[in-house]
Amino acid sequence: MSPRFIAVEGLDGSGGSTQIARLRDGFLARGERCLVSREPSDGPVGKLIRQQLSGGVSDGVLPYLFAADRRDHFDSVILPGLARGENVLSDRCALSSFAYQAEAHGLSRVMRLNEDFPPPDLVILLDLAPEVCLARILARGLPRDRFETLDRLRTIAAGYDAAIRALGEVPGRWHIVRIDASGTPDEVAARVAKAVWPG
Ligand code: TYD
Repeated sequence: MSPRFIAVEGLDGSGGSTQIARLRDGFLARGERCLVSREPSDGPVGKLIRQQLSGGVSDGVLPYLFAADRRDHFDSVILPGLARGENVLSDRCALSSFAYQAEAHGLSRVMRLNEDFPPPDLVILLDLAPEVCLARILARGLPRDRFETLDRLRTIAAGYDAAIRALGEVPGRWHIVRIDASGTPDEVAARVAKAVWPG
């Protein structure tokens, strides 16, 4: 099988980092090579974004920074990884920009900004109620970024729905599988594995 680019998506607190780690274990257990990455990336633009997420630049600037980081992520990590024959697992992709930046910027503008980037071969969307996500975020006790309030999480959940509806109008381009992200990490990992390795 040729290497795949797979992204995990969902609200903050929906368990993306945990599921990426499980997915990596699944690839390795099958003797397949894989590379774990994320957006915002660990490159220079991604680092700048992480510094700015709890304040700093205005919401209007963020979509441009995310798109610049995505260019860097494709060129420096995703495409070279696939060319080496590694599966590339990314915690988030352009779908996050569609869900998170549409409120401030408009979905069609954000989509235009990202039109150069090929969609992942598969997107796993971890589906969890905003209330549950917020409870998990609060339980972590870390400083919260600008998206981590209940109102924002609800808006972003609606943003995912709107983006998926819009992407559905472009047949065959995006393959997004919604996974129930409630339950234990093992239960969710089993659902994710079924989507990644069907049959
Ligand atoms: P996140 O994966 O939550 O990083 P961490 O777990 O280290 O805090 O990503 C940071 C935030 O960036 C998250 O709230 C989602 C947001 N984001 C966007 O708003 N647009 C994007 O295009 C991406 C990739 C992320």
